[in-house]
Amino acid sequence: MFFRAALLSFALAGLGLAQDSPAAPMPEGSYKYNASMPTALDPSAEELEWLKSINWSGMIWPLESFATVYVDDPNTTVPVPASDADATLVKRTTYRGVYICTDVNWGGQCGYAQQPTNECISLQAPWWSAISSWGPDPGQKCYGYNSNYCKYWAPDGCDVPSECIRYGGNPSIGPVRAPGLSTVPQWQDGDFNWNDHMNSWICYVE
Ligand SMILES: *[C@@H]1O[C@H](CO)[C@@H](O)[C@H](O)[C@H]1NC(C)=O
Ligand SMILES: *[C@@H]1O[C@H](CO)[C@@H](O)[C@H](O)[C@H]1NC(C)=O
Ligand SMILES: *[C@@H]1O[C@H](CO)[C@@H](O)[C@H](O)[C@H]1NC(C)=O
Repeated sequence: MFFRAALLSFALAGLGLAQDSPAAPMPEGSYKYNASMPTALDPSAEELEWLKSINWSGMIWPLESFATVYVDDPNTTVPVPASDADATLVKRTTYRGVYICTDVNWGGQCGYAQQPTNECISLQAPWWSAISSWGPDPGQKCYGYNSNYCKYWAPDGCDVPSECIRYGGNPSIGPVRAPGLSTVPQWQDGDFNWNDHMNSWICYVE
């Protein structure tokens, strides 16, 4: 109890400081939803209804601000960073949103990002091995992997059978569709529970 009170006053002091200083710059490409100023990045009406139901903050962060996007090159199992000028964007088609949180029931630290579909999204801190709620927007199916790099570029993760690691019988969890996974039982797949064990994913338009 004592510690909780101490932490609370510390947090409030922090808020006071924040009000006195200029607002921290948001990462390039981030954006705050404002219904009176429509943009192409806005969630659809259906997506918005769902995002509001899980108390979305209204922020959209560029995926690159918390993850690395890799290009899916079918000729190799070695992923190529999308920032590589020589990378061949073989399958990039469109973008869809995904909502992620570090706690179950859409709790803890949450983020919503527009992400390229058909490409591997490889997570970094604070999301690495920390995802407990995973909500792809409608219109896509997603597969999550324990490794980074979406090994090995196939929904069943077994482009290279000899290197295939199976968790609970499956090298990936999926297909996962909106509204996604947000409870520990939902993360159970065979004898493996993927809660806090997903480090990359790939989503396909459908
Ligand atoms: C939304 O945009 C309108 C019009 O530019 C502006 O007046 C309003 O302050 C904005 N709201 C927020 C929450 O930023
Ligand atoms: C959203 O916030 C409301 C009001 O605080 C709360 O009752 C509700 O449980 C929250 N929903 C989720 C999914 O956290
Ligand atoms: C993959 O390899 C084939 C055969 O060598 C080649 O024709 C094709 O252009 C390659 N694709 C990419 C994306 O490099």
